[in-house]
Amino acid sequence: MSNIGSYEEMRETFTWEISEKELGFKKGDNINIGYYCSDRICEMGKADRLALIWQGHSGEVKKYTFDDMRVYTNTIAHYLKGLGIEAGDRICLFMDKVPELYFGFLGILKMGGIAQPLFSAFGGESLFTRLKDANTKAIVTQKKHVSKVRKIKEELPELQYIIVVDDDGKKPLREQEIAFDMEGAEKIETFDIYPSMAETPSVLHYTSGTTGQPKGAQHVHYSLISQYISSKYVLDLMEDDIYWCTADPGWVTGTSYGIIGPWANGVTQCVLDAGFKAESWYKFIQDHRITIWYSAPTAIRSLMKVGTDVVKQYDMSSLRHMCSVGEPLNAEAVIWSKDAFGMEFYDTFWQTETGAHMICNYPGMKVKPGSMGKPFPGITATVLDLKTHEPIQTPGTVGLIAFKPGWPSMFRSYWNNEAVYKSKFINGWYISGDRASIDEDGYYWFVGRDDDVINTGGHLVGPFEIESALLEHESVAESAVVGKPDPVNMEVVKAFITLKPGFDASKMLELEIMNFIRKKLSPLAMPQEIEFADSLPKTRSGKIMRRLLRAKEWGEEIGDTSTLEDDE
Ligand code: PRX
Repeated sequence: MSNIGSYEEMRETFTWEISEKELGFKKGDNINIGYYCSDRICEMGKADRLALIWQGHSGEVKKYTFDDMRVYTNTIAHYLKGLGIEAGDRICLFMDKVPELYFGFLGILKMGGIAQPLFSAFGGESLFTRLKDANTKAIVTQKKHVSKVRKIKEELPELQYIIVVDDDGKKPLREQEIAFDMEGAEKIETFDIYPSMAETPSVLHYTSGTTGQPKGAQHVHYSLISQYISSKYVLDLMEDDIYWCTADPGWVTGTSYGIIGPWANGVTQCVLDAGFKAESWYKFIQDHRITIWYSAPTAIRSLMKVGTDVVKQYDMSSLRHMCSVGEPLNAEAVIWSKDAFGMEFYDTFWQTETGAHMICNYPGMKVKPGSMGKPFPGITATVLDLKTHEPIQTPGTVGLIAFKPGWPSMFRSYWNNEAVYKSKFINGWYISGDRASIDEDGYYWFVGRDDDVINTGGHLVGPFEIESALLEHESVAESAVVGKPDPVNMEVVKAFITLKPGFDASKMLELEIMNFIRKKLSPLAMPQEIEFADSLPKTRSGKIMRRLLRAKEWGEEIGDTSTLEDDE
């Protein structure tokens, strides 16, 4: 029997109070995610249960109980407070998936700080824009990443502390850099947890849009109410589960469902701090007897490519439920998973901004392969007419996915950008930026983005950020960046470039520019292909028509370009 039971019945009767009650929360109480994920689980008599089974890239394994986690998160919170970091300050986590990242996240929340996790593969420029925007006060990192911080810190006057969690003393630390050894530090048994309230800011997740630089979606401690109950109903987490979320906490899946939701449910989580390899993933599931697995379509398609024979060489019998998020999960992948694992991947749809699951497939509910499922109980969803923004009544008609504001984990603003935040709401609906249709049974079918954001391997990258970085290369005069179809990653970045006089297109130059972007921004943002052009298509007002370039890549009808010009 699943946690949710009958979806239809739950949808009828559900209120968010169910989650509040289970968590022992009443309106006006303090609510601190750090407390709920560690101290509370210990108070419930589960102090000795494993919270984290961590495996590094060379195969070493470390295990931590909920009590270990309680003490380490106290220790980090105490340390940060001792430095003079205050409630409301932004503290960036810039690390690989090491235990300090997970405990650091909760430690920051325990002392009232705002956690700002960033993907450790980010290059200097990606890091800089996000730290500058958030006026970040401290960054917690590893020695292998510290050089990227050194290069930009002069231009970040607000950044006071660079905390290195694995300093071995071999190379001297520089000004503002301090070593902190989580396991070697004096253990703090009791810590006075910051008395955060429902609306106290908790996490700042940067996400890309079509225009401008990435924006920080700001969440609050009350998000726990959504994350806890959806982990229970959608991921079906139960008392004895061993759960693996493959996402990096630099992205929202890695925090909402790689930290908060599962640990608030007192469930053991596994973390693999190593790159993707089908064999090592299967071995990881086999060795740790993983029961619930949350992954993404790109990973699933990569596993498909390796073939079913490889799966069959491992013991996957511990698995009982599998979910997917981040991009469209194609019907073939759902059907393949049934053959390979004896069960299907359940697709889930949500966003950085929504903080938790919005449209999902639930255990026990019939899966229609290729559909994202139905709205989470407690969520009012619809698709809006593309022009009038009124809910569409006719099944099968494509519109904008929209949600009625008010669910607990909804973002509360974009950091320093109230205007863009406001622009996300029309006619009383939150507009997701995605298109879908709803069928006669109420299932949602994803169609695509409603903007120019590129989804590569489940990660959103903004064309503007890449175009701006390209212009910093000495040879580039103009640039336009679009998503190009890719069988595994769904989309990859393709750049169109015109060159400055004196530069000639060549394979060498293409590679040089690709590398330039990889280092500056990230491997994900790096164009997989660069097309040198004599000129780029523009509107009458001189704006580059990305959509026209994109349509060509997708083999879509471009039609009358004058309408495109009008759209700009
Ligand atoms: O376009 C949708 C796509 O990913 C976007 C959200 O990305 P992000 O904020 O980075 O959060 C990703 C993890 C929650 C959406 O606007 N997306 C997410 N899930 C799906 C999806 N597209 C199709 N199917 C999904 N299940």
